[in-house]
Amino acid sequence: MNSLDQASTLSRRGFLCQSGALVAAAASGLPSAAHAVEPVIPGFEKTAVDPDVSKGWQPISDRKIRVGLVGYGECKFSAKFYFQNHPNVEVVAVSDLIPERCAELAKETGCAKTYPSLEELVKDDKIEAVFICTDAPHHSEHCLAALKHGKHVATAVPAVFGSLEDAERVFAAVRKSGLKYMMFETSAFHEDLFAMRQIYRASGLGELVYSEGEYYHYMAQPIGSYKGWRIGLPPQYYPTHSNAYHICVSGGSFTEVSCLGMPSVIGHLQAANNPYQNPFGTEIALFRTSEGARAHGGELDTPGFWAKRVAFADKKALSTEIRGP
Ligand SMILES: NC(=O)c1ccc[n+]([C@@H]2O[C@H](COP(=O)([O-])OP(=O)(O)OC[C@H]3O[C@@H](n4cnc5c(N)ncnc54)[C@H](O)[C@@H]3O)[C@@H](O)[C@H]2O)c1
Repeated sequence: MNSLDQASTLSRRGFLCQSGALVAAAASGLPSAAHAVEPVIPGFEKTAVDPDVSKGWQPISDRKIRVGLVGYGECKFSAKFYFQNHPNVEVVAVSDLIPERCAELAKETGCAKTYPSLEELVKDDKIEAVFICTDAPHHSEHCLAALKHGKHVATAVPAVFGSLEDAERVFAAVRKSGLKYMMFETSAFHEDLFAMRQIYRASGLGELVYSEGEYYHYMAQPIGSYKGWRIGLPPQYYPTHSNAYHICVSGGSFTEVSCLGMPSVIGHLQAANNPYQNPFGTEIALFRTSEGARAHGGELDTPGFWAKRVAFADKKALSTEIRGP
């Protein structure tokens, strides 16, 4: 692949998805313009196993967890975990601040009840748990609001965004409430990560001494976001897509970190051009892990198709590499 190909904002998978749709349009005998192709957001392409993923799901009991879904922004993420299709879930209510998005989410999930904001939704006594897919910088505030109203809570990406104080606040609120907090890190659901976890748990890797996890999400222009939170986003404010490749395999944690930022040539990743005053598009972190191993990862300004990569080494010098979609 030449550098022009690599610089394309379409990934190979995104291109295949789109060209497949165009082939289908051509085969139907209709002009392709009649089959408008939705632009594919880099890093958010559908995988081969995605369509109809929930077909065949069976209930595990008579109990239905009563859930509220919040946030139907650029990535329409709150509908993407298919709560609405799960036989043990009732989607009680949905919300987005933008009325059109809220209505679209209600339609997509077949939910009759809507609220104009998360702050209103969390007052609904019928709701037991809330899935928060709002803008990442507000996750901690929204988590705290849900916990305060006695709801279990899950967030799309980390509940905290560059603030250790917020992390402490969320941690304290979870402990005090006795409720559950979960983060739905999508890397943890990837087939390759899952396979590596199974191998690790079966002692196939031995004692880990080193791992690498990388997340490439080239954004010459940031994709859309509520109040522009993706413009100049510091990569390590959003670290879990790469870190999951160690944490979700080993089940451990990181205990120490040292990080190196690489100044970027990309416009929105210049300190003067973003609200974070962030000059870095690549931030490489080196972690000490609770198993005594080393791990590193993450960048947002390396051209190429979107990817996650991991390599493991154990004391027998076995090294294995896998690549995410
Ligand atoms: N692979 C992944 O894990 C992955 C992929 C895509 C998105 N995400 C995450 O999903 C989340 C949503 O992403 P997005 O691109 O849709 O974000 P976005 O910024 O485009 O949209 C956020 C939405 O939240 C709504 N919102 C904000 N505050 C609200 C409130 N108080 N009450 C109700 N609604 C409120 C806004 O109106 C907006 O529609 C982000 O955290 C993002 O990082 C994760």
